[in-house]
Amino acid sequence: MASEESSDPHSHPPYDYSATRRDFLLKLGVGINAVAGALIGIPLIGYAVSSLIRNDRDVWIKLGPVDNFPENTIRRAVFTDPFKREADGQTADLTCWVRRETGEKFTIFAANCTHLGCPVRWFEQSKLFLCPCHGGAFYEDGEHAAGPPPRSLYQYAAKVENDQLMIKAGVLPTLAAPGSTP
Ligand code: FES
Repeated sequence: MASEESSDPHSHPPYDYSATRRDFLLKLGVGINAVAGALIGIPLIGYAVSSLIRNDRDVWIKLGPVDNFPENTIRRAVFTDPFKREADGQTADLTCWVRRETGEKFTIFAANCTHLGCPVRWFEQSKLFLCPCHGGAFYEDGEHAAGPPPRSLYQYAAKVENDQLMIKAGVLPTLAAPGSTP
């Protein structure tokens, strides 16, 4: 049989196409896996690193002169996320509720309901923060009054400097990152 093949002038040496195709598919698979790994791994690394530097994102910014917030009132205030990026647009404008009791005794509540995050609103007539989504209600000190929210309103840390009310912004206050301690 071997002598027949060598005597045929039109015969070619056998070519192992399968080996070449296997190499190509192997390299393609490695490449795809490397790209997929980078796409998954880079955000995970970013998330892990961002949690380590989270405290660096706490910054104090001005909410305005204290005279803008009369005693025994609750007023809405808006501030811009100090880490705003161009793509954020209006979503970087954050609402909070400022309660001034007397003197420099301020409490700043996050506007997000502690149930599922809808924006709560202060109603002077009923002396309640009310949530439009599922009927959650909070007293003027932020304590839970009614409805499904599991806890009182979150608070930002607040302080007065040079007659300016300051808010510790940069991170939304949550149970994991409470903001009520300056
Ligand atoms: S989000 Fe406010 S009660 Fe559900």
